[in-house]
Amino acid sequence: MNAAIPTTAPAGHVPVMLREVLAALAPREGGTYLDATFGGGGYASAILEAAACTLWAIDRDPDAIARGAALAARHPGGLHLLHGAFADMLALLGGHGVTALDGIVFDLGVSSFQLDDAQRGFSFRHDGPLDMRMARSGPTAAALVNHLPEDELADTLYQLGEERASRRVARAIVLAREQAPITTTGQLAEIIRGVLPPDRSGHHPATRSFQALRIRVNDELGQVATALDQAARLLAPGGTLVVVSFHSLEDRLVKRFMIEASGRTPAPSRHNPASLLARPGSDFRLLANGATRPGDDETGANPRARSARLRAMQRLAHDHTVQGEDAR
Ligand SMILES: C[S@@+](CC[C@H](N)C(=O)[O-])C[C@H]1O[C@@H](n2cnc3c(N)ncnc32)[C@H](O)[C@@H]1O
Repeated sequence: MNAAIPTTAPAGHVPVMLREVLAALAPREGGTYLDATFGGGGYASAILEAAACTLWAIDRDPDAIARGAALAARHPGGLHLLHGAFADMLALLGGHGVTALDGIVFDLGVSSFQLDDAQRGFSFRHDGPLDMRMARSGPTAAALVNHLPEDELADTLYQLGEERASRRVARAIVLAREQAPITTTGQLAEIIRGVLPPDRSGHHPATRSFQALRIRVNDELGQVATALDQAARLLAPGGTLVVVSFHSLEDRLVKRFMIEASGRTPAPSRHNPASLLARPGSDFRLLANGATRPGDDETGANPRARSARLRAMQRLAHDHTVQGEDAR
């Protein structure tokens, strides 16, 4: 065995819906693109291979940015890594004089690097500190679990995890923390398992509560809402916005945003589906009616892809002006 290979290294991240992302983004030579969620660099690497273009890439996780240095070295002048939150993309890119992009892609949520590293505290499958901070800064999940008032904790689990037994789980957490602070993922998972019956779908009963805490710790919905607005402002005429999301709360935000931006009615009748063409006056058109799902081949090979939904829209090629300011 080669002693130089660390046996505890987290597994790599398998990019989800990569083929569909590339088809929607259609990178072209000389174009300028943004990968708003660099992660393991799977999309970034494929975009750079697909066309001789300039790619900016953002991640709020300092580990992801550090890991990306090797890919940047393989594409001198092609890949530019920016550490920060995607809700700050206008400022991050503006700081480098970038004000218009030919395409932007988001692959929301956490990477396998983050999930599989017990020390990051994202998963009940690995016992570790109850952390969950993508950016490694700000309040941890442990701070929420140990200090939120019981009602607020229950509301968070209900609203962000769609946990129907949120009151029961919050009560159990409060009773446990009265004995001793809850500091590890394993402790929290056990507390929840103690009050919830096993899920018939086979999911661990803590799945929904962990999702809720992660979303709140990282303000994921606030980040997405702000970033979508900024992304639309950065798209050059003909530019495409592609978003892959993994849970219904995120997907709902993306869906509403794109439907509104393309000037379509929020809920077209089943019997009269809206045209793929944008209404006169709107700056964007949807690239597909509804969300695109991964194929069976992909979900069979990568269970993480099962909940993925891809939505995409394109800025129409006619000139546009954003809030009195030329977006180019
Ligand atoms: C699903 S992974 C992306 C994987 C990537 N597409 C690949 O192929 O390797 C999501 C990444 O987005 C980052 N991320 C999530 N929310 C973010 C935010 N608000 N701002 C910046 N990065 C974010 C996470 O830290 C994580 O590294």
